Amino acid sequence: DKPEDLLPRPPVVTIMGHVDHGKTSLLDSIRKSKITSGEAGGITQHIGAYYVGSDRGDIVFLDTPGHEAFTAMRARGAQVTDIVILVVAADDGVMDQTREAVNHSKAAGVPIVVAVNKIDKEGADPDRVKRELSELGLVPEDWGGDTIYTHVSAKQGTGIDEILEMVLLQAEVLELHANPNKYAVGHIVEARLDKGRGAVGTVLVQGGTLKHGDAFVCGLYHGKVRAMFNDKGKKIDQAGPAVPVEIQGLEGVPEAGDEFVVVQDEKVARRIADARQTK
Ligand code: GTP
Ligand code: NA
Ligand code: MG
Repeated sequence: DKPEDLLPRPPVVTIMGHVDHGKTSLLDSIRKSKITSGEAGGITQHIGAYYVGSDRGDIVFLDTPGHEAFTAMRARGAQVTDIVILVVAADDGVMDQTREAVNHSKAAGVPIVVAVNKIDKEGADPDRVKRELSELGLVPEDWGGDTIYTHVSAKQGTGIDEILEMVLLQAEVLELHANPNKYAVGHIVEARLDKGRGAVGTVLVQGGTLKHGDAFVCGLYHGKVRAMFNDKGKKIDQAGPAVPVEIQGLEGVPEAGDEFVVVQDEKVARRIADARQTK
């Protein structure tokens, strides 16, 4: 892409952390805080990703079951996350999967924003979390380091605006851009076989614009976009960079982390997929 073709795009964020530290609760809380009364479907989860729009900027959350998906994607060379929100329960402190998450993020070169969660709880000790994470190299800004920490209670919904603000601040530093004016490229976030609809997959578009009717190759399979839905379950015709969409029209079920590439036409798509399958 030439520099003049690049436009700013929203950050893609994955929430990671130890079991039960509040990853799902945090995403739910973010969702609730951003639901407008007119939004049909309420907080119903439609696909494994969530697009948050706000005046200050948009953010895309990948609602993966944390480490497994992140690890699987990284193993397949898929870089889908720009920022990791590391959730640490203030009453529990740093645990095994907290360390794992830090290691994964570092290995992938993805910056971490720390959400010290459950600050409403008796026995919450945010300073302990800061000390323990500092030992892993995540030194807070107020201690002379450069890691952003926020205090949240996913349960009570406090600190949610602040964490979104911090993610946008971190995103600004990254200067994220993409070219929307080309064939779409992206990655499969999740895929499954649906009884009525056949193979359906959630694609995170990372470059270009995906359009209804586009032919594509995805892992071992080819396909043609027959229907496309956004994270709110609304039927849409096109999706630009950083937009997660659920698509129908896959000839098979790809794996999370598979690359998704739009090609000229179905014939080309089929030829590429056939070659991959006979390998
Ligand atoms: P796994 O997906 O199983 O790893 O868990 P998780 O990290 O998604 O945690 P989850 O959101 O399921 O929360 C675990 C438990 O902690 C639930 O009982 C939540 O209600 C509780 N919890 C989450 N956030 C808070 C919080 O801010 N304060 C309090 N008091 N409880 C919380
Ligand atoms: Na849980
Ligand atoms: Mg969870």
